[in-house]
Amino acid sequence: MSFELVVVGGGRMGSALVEGLVSAQWCAPSSLAVVESALEQREVLSVRFAGVSVLATLELEHVGPETGVVLCVKPDHAEGAARLAAACGVTRLLSVVAGLSTQRIEAAFAAPVAVVRSMPNTPVLIRRGVSAIAGGSHVTAADLDWAESILGAVGTVVRVTERNLDAVTGLSGSGPAYFFLVVEAMIEAGVHQGLSREVSRQLVAGTFAGSAALLVETGDSPEELRAQVTSPGGTTAAGLRMLEGRAVRAAFLEAVAAAAERSRQLGR
Ligand SMILES: NC(=O)c1ccc[n+]([C@@H]2O[C@H](COP(=O)([O-])OP(=O)(O)OC[C@H]3O[C@@H](n4cnc5c(N)ncnc54)[C@H](OP(=O)(O)O)[C@@H]3O)[C@@H](O)[C@H]2O)c1
Repeated sequence: MSFELVVVGGGRMGSALVEGLVSAQWCAPSSLAVVESALEQREVLSVRFAGVSVLATLELEHVGPETGVVLCVKPDHAEGAARLAAACGVTRLLSVVAGLSTQRIEAAFAAPVAVVRSMPNTPVLIRRGVSAIAGGSHVTAADLDWAESILGAVGTVVRVTERNLDAVTGLSGSGPAYFFLVVEAMIEAGVHQGLSREVSRQLVAGTFAGSAALLVETGDSPEELRAQVTSPGGTTAAGLRMLEGRAVRAAFLEAVAAAAERSRQLGR
C-alpha cells in the first residue's frame, strides 16, 4: 500500500512532526507512515500514533506517484536514506537534516527530484517552532507550499534561499541555546540579589514568556517595547546602560556570525 506522506526517522524530530501532522489533520492517519530503524522506538511510535503505519524500512510498495517523504534522520544516515527513497521512486522530498545541501540529496537520485531543505528549531517539539525552507533545483511553488504545510503543523515557516540557511542556522537554529544561556544568567542574577532559586526561575521564565507574547501579539517593534519600560534616569535605564557597556549587542552579532560560519564549514 502506498502512503501520502512517509516520515523517515522517527526520533525526536520525526515523532514531533508526526504528532503535529496528526493533530492538524494534515491527512488521514492511515495515509501517514513513519519509517524507523530502531525496534524499540518503533514500538513506542506504534503506541503513540494509533492508525499511523510504523515501518522498519521504506519499500517500493509504499511509494505511489503522489507520495512525499520527509527525511528526519541524523546527518550521517541521510544520504543512505535518500538513496533508498530514490530506489523506491520518490519524487518529492523535504529534508530537516542540518548541513546537508539539496545538491547532495539530488545527487542520490538518478531522475529529477523536488527537494525542499529546511532548518527547524527545537520548539517544534511542542509545535511552537520556527522553520526556514529553501528549494533545490527542481522545486515548484507547489512543492514549497507542500513543505510549508508540513512544517506549519509544528510552528511557523519562513522562506529563504538555500544560501541563507547557514544564517538561519546561526540565528533561529542555535537561538534556543542563546536564549537558555540568558535565562540561566538572569536566574543567577536574581539569586545574587537574595531571591530563592525557585522564585527567581519563576520570575525569569514568566518575564521571557510574557515579553515574547507581547512582541508577537502587539506587533510592536522591540525598540518600542523596550522604551515603554525605560523611564529616563530610572531603574531599567541603569540596567540597560550596564548591558550596553558590556557590549551585549556586539556579543550577539558575533555569536550568530560564528554559528553561521560553523554551519558553512560543516556543510562543505
Ligand atoms: N532535534 C532538533 O531540534 C533538530 C533541529 C533541526 C534539525 N534537526 C535535524 O533532524 C534530524 C533528526 O534529528 P533527531 O534529533 O530527530 O534525531 P534522532 O532522535 O536520533 O532520530 C533519528 C531516528 O532515525 C532513526 N534512523 C536512522 N537511520 C534510519 C533510516 N535509514 N531509516 C529510518 N530510520 C532511521 C534513528 O535510529 P537509530 O538511533 O537506530 O540510528 C533514530 O531513531 C537530524 O538530521 C537533525 O540535523 C533536528
